[in-house]
This record gives sequence, C-alpha cells and structure tokens, in this order.
Amino acid sequence: MSSWATFFFLSFFSVFTCIKVSSQDLTLLYNFCPNTTTYSRNSTYYTNLKTLLASFSSPNSSYSTGFQSGKAGQAPDTVTGLFLCRGDVSQESCRNCVAFAVNESLTRCPNQSEAVLYYDECTLRYSHRNILSTLRTDGGYTLPNVNNIPRNQQDRFRDLVLATLNQAATKAVASSRKFDARKVNFTALQSLYGLVQCTPDLTGKDCLRCLQTSINQLPTERTGARLLLPSCGSRYELYPFYNESAVTTQTN
Ligand SMILES: *[C@@H]1O[C@H](CO)[C@@H](O)[C@H](O)[C@H]1NC(C)=O
Ligand SMILES: *[C@@H]1O[C@H](CO)[C@@H](O)[C@H](O)[C@H]1NC(C)=O
Ligand SMILES: *[C@@H]1O[C@H](CO)[C@@H](O)[C@H](O)[C@H]1NC(C)=O
Ligand SMILES: *[C@@H]1O[C@H](CO)[C@@H](O)[C@H](O)[C@H]1NC(C)=O
Ligand SMILES: *[C@@H]1O[C@H](CO)[C@@H](O)[C@H](O)[C@H]1NC(C)=O
Ligand SMILES: *[C@@H]1O[C@H](CO)[C@@H](O)[C@H](O)[C@H]1NC(C)=O
Ligand SMILES: *[C@@H]1O[C@H](CO)[C@@H](O)[C@H](O)[C@H]1NC(C)=O
Repeated sequence: MSSWATFFFLSFFSVFTCIKVSSQDLTLLYNFCPNTTTYSRNSTYYTNLKTLLASFSSPNSSYSTGFQSGKAGQAPDTVTGLFLCRGDVSQESCRNCVAFAVNESLTRCPNQSEAVLYYDECTLRYSHRNILSTLRTDGGYTLPNVNNIPRNQQDRFRDLVLATLNQAATKAVASSRKFDARKVNFTALQSLYGLVQCTPDLTGKDCLRCLQTSINQLPTERTGARLLLPSCGSRYELYPFYNESAVTTQTN
C-alpha cells in the first residue's frame, strides 16, 4: 500500500457539547454511498479497501492533526480515502470516532465503491476515484434544529449568522487546518457559536468555494443548523457545541 502523505479533511460539528463520547455512543449523522458503482467481496478492490481502512484505524494514524489521507492498491483497483476529525476534538476522541466509522462503514455501505460517513466528531470517505485534493460538494446533508428564531428577530439573526460564518470561513481558509470556530453576542443573554472546516488537502480557493456553498444553503431561521458536504462543513448554534478551550488554545 502506498500511503500518501498524511494530510487532511473535514468533519464536524457536534450534537452535544462537552459530552465525553465513547466509541459505543457515536451516532451516524448521514451516509452517502451511491450504488452506481459497486464491488464484490472477493474483488481486489475489497482487499485494497480493507487495507486502507486498517491504516486509518492503526495506532500510527495522525489523530493529532485530525486528518489523514491515503491510497491503496494499483489501478484499476485503487482506493483513495481520508478521515477528518472536527478541529476541536482531542486525539482520543478522534481515534474513537475514526475506529467507529471504519467499523461501521462496511455495514452501512456493504458493496458501494464510494462512501462518505458523517459523524459529529469525524468524517470518513473513500472512493474508487481520486478524492484527494479534489473539491466535492455533492452527497451533502442539512441538519436543521427544530426550533425557530422568533419571526421579528429573523432578519437580524440571519445577518449575524452569515457575517459570523463568513468571517470564520476567511480565517479557516488561511489556516493550516482549514478550521475556525467563534462566538459572538446575539442578545445580552445569548451567544451565537459558529464553526467551519474544510479538508486541509483543499486549496484555499476550493475551501472558500466549498464553505460558501455550505454557508449559503444553511437555513438561518432556526436556532441552529449544519450543512455537511464531503469537502467541508459549517454549523451554527445558540449553545457551545464545540470545545471552546480547545479552540482558543489553538494557534493558527
Ligand atoms: C450489491 O449491490 C447490488 C447493486 O446495488 C445489489 O443488487 C446487491 O444486492 C448488493 N450485494 C450485497 C451483498 O449487498
Ligand atoms: C441502492 O441500494 C439501496 C439499498 O440496497 C436500494 O434501496 C436502492 O434502490 C438502490 N439504488 C439504486 C439506484 O440502485
Ligand atoms: C469470486 O471470484 C471468482 C473468480 O473471479 C468467481 O468465480 C466467484 O463467483 C466469485 N464469488 C463471489 C461470491 O462473488
Ligand atoms: C506503525 O509504525 C511502526 C513504526 O514506525 C511501523 O513499524 C509499523 O509498520 C506501522 N504500522 C502500520 C500499520 O502502518
Ligand atoms: C464493530 O462492529 C461490530 C458489529 O457491527 C461490533 O460488535 C464491534 O464491537 C465493533 N467494534 C468497534 C471497535 O466498535
Ligand atoms: C457580549 O456580551 C457580554 C455580556 O453581556 C459583554 O460583556 C461583552 O462585552 C459583549 N461582547 C461584545 C463583543 O459585544
Ligand atoms: C476541551 O479542550 C481542552 C483543551 O484542549 C481539554 O483540556 C479538555 O479536556 C477538553 N474538554 C472536553 C470535554 O473534551
């Protein structure tokens, strides 16, 4: 297996703040595995896929940077893939999430050559096509909160959400981890929390395009929402859904 550079990728956006997640607790948010291209269990592709997945859950993986990409096998059976942990999660949570995703991938997507599995703390992707350093905005998913912002505050809220996330996007694009999270006041009593992240293998330009696509599709009349795409994601909430201390101690 030729392991590519260890790089990067995307992730997400937690449901609950500061809840210690054990590998048993993870909830798959969404999986995208079109059955347009499938493989059989005794194919070389399957062997290569298992090799690649094993490398992602090996102790050597780069959980500290929260991103790794790789490639296994020779054409025409090459598999490329990556995992991305949310920018604020610890190495341990990253490792747990990736192990969980790797384990679940072959049951959720039993014979599809291409898959994206989204969890709160990580995303796992693989494909028969080269997905590395490639912007992908299909196969996305929107998760809006059920609660609405009061109608008479929706315009102001929308402006604040967009301004905050666009500011975060500008910062993320310029950072090595392609990640940013920030908090602003909505009312005297309520803060708005926003988070954006791209897979760090993207160019700044592609990352920005991805984040703009994601941010512009977010519903903003809700008290929170997230939009997950293979190459990036964005989220806002009126509660701290990411680890604030992990973000402020980060050096961009
Ligand atoms: C594999 O995919 C094909 C096409 O979608 C499907 O018909 C078949 O049942 C699948 N086989 C398994 C073992 O999941
Ligand atoms: C893909 O697979 C799912 C589950 O096996 C099946 O329900 C669906 O109809 C398939 N889609 C296509 C396009 O074959
Ligand atoms: C496995 O591969 C062999 C040879 O390519 C083929 O004859 C056989 O049907 C395959 N078995 C399954 C379960 O796909
Ligand atoms: C992990 O790293 C060690 C030492 O660098 C190496 O011997 C081992 O083969 C690696 N394991 C995998 C699964 O890459
Ligand atoms: C992997 O999945 C199987 C069943 O799907 C489960 O029994 C096992 O505990 C899982 N392993 C991990 C490490 O999550
Ligand atoms: C946000 O609200 C807090 C508490 O009301 C206040 O102390 C702080 O100055 C405000 N920050 C900004 C940037 O307005
Ligand atoms: C949040 O991040 C800080 C700094 O990295 C860490 O010490 C703390 O354990 C994290 N909290 C949680 C709940 O993960």
